Amino acid sequence: MAENKKIILTGDRPTGKLHIGHYVGSLKRRVELQNSGEFDEIYIMLADAQALTDNADNPAKIRDNIMEVALDYLSVGIDPAKSNIFIQSHVAELTELSFYYMNLVTVSRLQRNPTVKAEIQMRNFETSIPVGFFTYPISQAADITAFKATVVPVGEDQMPMLEQTKEIVHKFNAVYGETLVDPQILLPSNKACLRLPGTDGKAKMSKSLGNAIYLADTEADVKKKVMSMFTDPDHIRVEDPGKLEGNTVFTYLDAFCNEDHFAEYLPDYANLDELKAHYQRGGLGDVKVKKFLNNVLQEELSPIRARRAEYEKNIEAVYEILKKGSEAASAKAAETLREVKAAMKINYFDDPTFLEEQKRK
Ligand code: TRP
Repeated sequence: MAENKKIILTGDRPTGKLHIGHYVGSLKRRVELQNSGEFDEIYIMLADAQALTDNADNPAKIRDNIMEVALDYLSVGIDPAKSNIFIQSHVAELTELSFYYMNLVTVSRLQRNPTVKAEIQMRNFETSIPVGFFTYPISQAADITAFKATVVPVGEDQMPMLEQTKEIVHKFNAVYGETLVDPQILLPSNKACLRLPGTDGKAKMSKSLGNAIYLADTEADVKKKVMSMFTDPDHIRVEDPGKLEGNTVFTYLDAFCNEDHFAEYLPDYANLDELKAHYQRGGLGDVKVKKFLNNVLQEELSPIRARRAEYEKNIEAVYEILKKGSEAASAKAAETLREVKAAMKINYFDDPTFLEEQKRK
């Protein structure tokens, strides 16, 4: 049980293509962790079953986005030789674990989960919450514990899910004996990366708001989106002093740029602090800053685009990657489920003492 392995589990709901907010919020970190060589096992999940908890009437949307998100993963550098990319619904053990964990969580605890609360509001579910949706934090605990994950690299919005998972782990271990592994959440260290705003300055990037830059966007798409980005509405003439607060272009630069970018594309400035100071003083136009941001983003996104194009030429290979990853994930989850059932003493046919006890009665 206590193997002391270092294991990563993380994932995304396949409800749409991934954008650069996902990238700086989590994907980039996953690739760094993967390539650090510090982890014994890595599992990256397409959370289709969770996506269905609020899309039950639209399974086609989930199906269409499986391949899309898999391509996003591969294109940012998730390497199938090092990481298992798998499909949640393929791992039946996860639903079985969820069913047992449900006994360890109260309805009022789920009602207090801030992410669930916010999502219920966002979807106008107040009076008609699907039970499956309501309980998805429990299924997320199953996802994490099934793989004995020690580290879960996710965006900040997933914090309450991790807390819920930890509670389930503690409760399970207290009731049935040390079985499950207590996971650690890993958030981005750069603050600007915690929640990248949309190109319109609104708090969240989303498909419905049309304010997202996607990893799959073409070079021209990205440029167009950057050049029409929200800045400081009072910064009208170049001479005007500009504000940085709520200025999306600068938030993106905080998330993406480094000193090498200045040397390469904007050598009049040594770093972002100098650029910011000039903007605040006045005399620096938005267009110049946007062109710089465009260069910075294109540099980051062009290798991603190139890798995607390669994988798109060979969708069958991607299909095989998902199939293999899902098989590996199932095997791992089955092992954990066996341990869970043993701890709960419901492993009747694996446990020779069961029959002995019954005969003695
Ligand atoms: N809730 C995550 C999202 O909305 C997806 C997810 C499901 C997940 N299970 C998980 C993430 C377990 C990390 C760990 O994208």
